Amino acid sequence: MQFQSILILTGAGISAESGVDTFRDVGGIWSKVRLEDVATPEGFARDPAMVHDFYNQRRAGLAGVKPNPAHHALARLEREFSGSVTVVTQNIDDLHERAGSRGVIHMHGELAKALCARCGTRGPSPDQLSTELACRQCGSLAGMRPDVVWFGEMPYHMDMIYDRLAAADLFVSIGTSGAVYPAAGFVEDARANGSRTLELNLEPSAGTMLFSEARHGPASRLVPDFVDELLARR
Ligand code: NAD
Ligand code: APR
Ligand code: ZN
Repeated sequence: MQFQSILILTGAGISAESGVDTFRDVGGIWSKVRLEDVATPEGFARDPAMVHDFYNQRRAGLAGVKPNPAHHALARLEREFSGSVTVVTQNIDDLHERAGSRGVIHMHGELAKALCARCGTRGPSPDQLSTELACRQCGSLAGMRPDVVWFGEMPYHMDMIYDRLAAADLFVSIGTSGAVYPAAGFVEDARANGSRTLELNLEPSAGTMLFSEARHGPASRLVPDFVDELLARR
């Protein structure tokens, strides 16, 4: 079967082999720090310095990592595939962009961006965000935060994502545990649209039974193999 339009969802697992910690694996981020403290609006209101420190450390960590063969394979697919390819990521790192992917949709925001909670102004984040940093637009000191979607907040670009999902004849989920909605529900939306669905993950995710096909193993092997297979069908 020749596909025309592919929507690819990625999660922390695609960046794991680049050395970026995942969340729910053994030793993952949520086993070291309470998500209620650093990934909720309540946590930021309670202790903004702790939240800035958490994301400043993750931002600093990105300087030392690079895209792995899975990121590069998706960029190659975008370049060489005859139909349309959309990458939607739950990740807040920039490894897809650094591998050459364009038009990546970051539904959970980006570490590289800062947002003023007071006036909504967005811009490139300094390496170290802090409560001492005033918003250039409204001057507020207490407003600057990482431009990242926290638990309880609405993910970004959902209308665009659902439009692209409805138009896709293939939905591929890579490196996500299927623990967080709405991303975890995309496979059901894809099935309802009659799309084929494929899971590429280290181990079965919470929704693995919903996929028409699931392949388990490291993304750095599974994703290049999948792209080779797809491009050979031309
Ligand atoms: P959710 O209910 O979709 O997530 C389910 C999982 O999130 C739970 O299994 C648990 O692991 C965790 N979780 C969520 N809120 C929690 C809390 N208050 N205490 C403990 N565990 C909690 O999460 P949600 O609240 O509906 O999140 C809404 C949206 O926020 C999600 O759809 C997601 O897109 C986004 N989000 C972003 C981040 C981030 O760090 N970028 C983190 C979580 C969620
Ligand atoms: N190759 C492929 N998959 C992998 C690899 C790898 N090398 N290493 C880990 N994985 C898989 C794990 O098996 C797991 O299913 O990646 C998944 C990572 O799951 P999580 O840590 O839950 O990360 P993710 O699914 O992206 O979390 C979703 O939750 O905390 C929020 O906003 C945060 O975006 C995140 C969201
Ligand atoms: Zn402002």
